[in-house]
Amino acid sequence: MHQLRKTYLYNKLNLLIKNIKGLVQVEDKPVSWLGGADMKKLNVIENAYLVIKDNKIEDFGKMDDLKSDPEYSGRNPKSKIVIDAAGKFVFPCFVDSHTHLVYATSREDEFVDRINGLSYEEIARKGGGILNSAKRLQKTSEDELFESALIRVNEIMSLGTGAVEIKSGYGLTLEDEIKMLRVIKRLKETSPVTIKATFLGAHAIPISYSDRKDYIDLIVEKMIPKVAEEKLADYCDVFCDRGFFTPEETDRILEQGLKYGLKPKIHANELDYSGGIQCGVAHNALSVDHLEYTGDEEIELLLNSETMPTLLPGTAFFLGLNYPPARKMIDAGLPVALASDYNPGSSPSGNMPFILSLACIKLKMTPEEAINAATINGAYALGLEKSHGSIAKGKAANVFITREMPSYAFLPYAFGSSLIETVIVDGEIRT
Ligand code: NIG
Ligand code: FE
Repeated sequence: MHQLRKTYLYNKLNLLIKNIKGLVQVEDKPVSWLGGADMKKLNVIENAYLVIKDNKIEDFGKMDDLKSDPEYSGRNPKSKIVIDAAGKFVFPCFVDSHTHLVYATSREDEFVDRINGLSYEEIARKGGGILNSAKRLQKTSEDELFESALIRVNEIMSLGTGAVEIKSGYGLTLEDEIKMLRVIKRLKETSPVTIKATFLGAHAIPISYSDRKDYIDLIVEKMIPKVAEEKLADYCDVFCDRGFFTPEETDRILEQGLKYGLKPKIHANELDYSGGIQCGVAHNALSVDHLEYTGDEEIELLLNSETMPTLLPGTAFFLGLNYPPARKMIDAGLPVALASDYNPGSSPSGNMPFILSLACIKLKMTPEEAINAATINGAYALGLEKSHGSIAKGKAANVFITREMPSYAFLPYAFGSSLIETVIVDGEIRT
């Protein structure tokens, strides 16, 4: 794999995509994110071309302008690779800003338990859930974890994801949290997908601790300094929710993370009005994620912050929870981002086209809002808004080409169809 990556680096190609039916999410003047009524706007160039040079977007525009360019001679342009995208759409790759895709094994046994009537929280109390994943991960080698996670990264890349956040949080010992983060580091070095790592030692309290403060001391005194020393994470997360970590505990962990240069990105308000949104905003978190329980007070706070509210409808779908009030949030003027939450317990899928469908069908977001949420707003939620999340000159050459479709709204509409034909990441055709 390392060998392969090297060849890619020394063999960058120029690429022209021509006759594009619709070039979606183009920006002349790039923005950092879109909120409120602006989320309904999506810039699309019809009958367009796109030029990729090395690993960046070099140029784009109307086919008519390309044809009148003296360097373009119809059948034999200067680009080495020409793709004819007649009838097809080109999108910037998705930015999936929240996943837990490093894990040891799937948990379909718990899925069956839930079908038979147990709740997610009851399963967790019986030793399933996050603690079950931790037990299995502790017994799995770094190499095995890397191999299985790389398969998942390749899978989501083929579904149009060009940048992804991956969390630790199934280790829950100093050694195993570091092992997970080293796996993420190897994925960063190996995959063309842009990857950000988040430290989530505060995902659950291991059963072996009779006093929860002892585990929080371990996170604060040992884990965060070690993670920072080895430069293994970009962000710090806490599962701030009923039955997991309190706002006071979250405060303490986030403050220590900030001291070591780790900006917060937290799990909040999935299971209750947990105070997690308040805690995230108070620490200027880059994002607060889940938000099934979001009321007027939380919306007001978010409106006065730089924190991106991030919705994960795959989790509510899979667990049968209430969906977050996306409509109310956007109508109040907020931006929202969409992410998959790809993990073995509550959302075993990193399929971002399906997340778009859920956003439209269940969150009542328009296709334009859903696309903005899964691209530019996701990029902001990952600190990547300057380089990802839209078609703009100089941004990363991360785009996908669809099959022939009548309109861009067909992508979320035709849920479950496989509509992504070609994926270009870091300037190269990957699938
Ligand atoms: O984002 N909410 C916390 N953590 C994960 C679930 C992890 C699991 O069940 O393994 C989530 O939903
Ligand atoms: Fe999560």
